[in-house]
Amino acid sequence: MKNKKITRKITQGMYVLTTKGGGCIVDAVAQISAGDNPLISVAVMHSNHTNTLLKENSSFALSVLGKSVNPDIITTFGMQSMRNVNKFAKIKTTEIEGLPIINNTIGYMICEIVDRIENDTHTLIIGKLVEADMYEDIEAMSYQYYQEHKDVLLKVTTETGKTAWICTICGYVYYGDELPENYNCPKCGVSKELFEKRKINA
Ligand SMILES: Cc1cc2nc3c(=O)[nH]c(=O)nc-3n(C[C@H](O)[C@H](O)[C@H](O)COP(=O)(O)O)c2cc1C
Repeated sequence: MKNKKITRKITQGMYVLTTKGGGCIVDAVAQISAGDNPLISVAVMHSNHTNTLLKENSSFALSVLGKSVNPDIITTFGMQSMRNVNKFAKIKTTEIEGLPIINNTIGYMICEIVDRIENDTHTLIIGKLVEADMYEDIEAMSYQYYQEHKDVLLKVTTETGKTAWICTICGYVYYGDELPENYNCPKCGVSKELFEKRKINA
């Protein structure tokens, strides 16, 4: 592939998907149809605890993140698993239609699950929009914006003169000339293909 970064030009947003008992950051969200109750799809990794919860639940919510979102929301919901931490202890939510909705976002969508499609790594969940609200009509954070600003948002820095490998999802930094074989990010779990090499010369 000559330059896979072109996929970042697919316009995607940044959301917290919540369902009863948990949730995670997702960007792989698309509106499938229009009308009063449009269909919305979201791809959820098999390895996420949220995927297990979505098998047991019949609905989910997407809280839409704005550009000035508190980065703690991203690190808590996108870089930790509900298997190990109670994400709701740190981030405040309001219960709407029986689902936890993240406070201080620009709005939310609540969907009833109508279909699930399995592939090797993800479940594509398809939901029908049944409730929605917009608290603030401001620009949402796109996935491209997150990628371009995550060093600042997540306070990623690398040491001058050292070869660093930075996780393009969560900003975790590994130092070394090469990443070990079969390496996965210890912070967010993605594979080594999603790391980018950086060296700042003295
Ligand atoms: C910027 C960003 C985008 C992400 N996009 C997705 C996504 O579209 N689908 C997904 O399943 N996980 C995505 N993740 C990863 C999950 O949010 C992450 O693995 C989370 O810790 C899973 O938590 P859980 O085990 O409690 O479900 C993303 C993470 C980040 C930081």
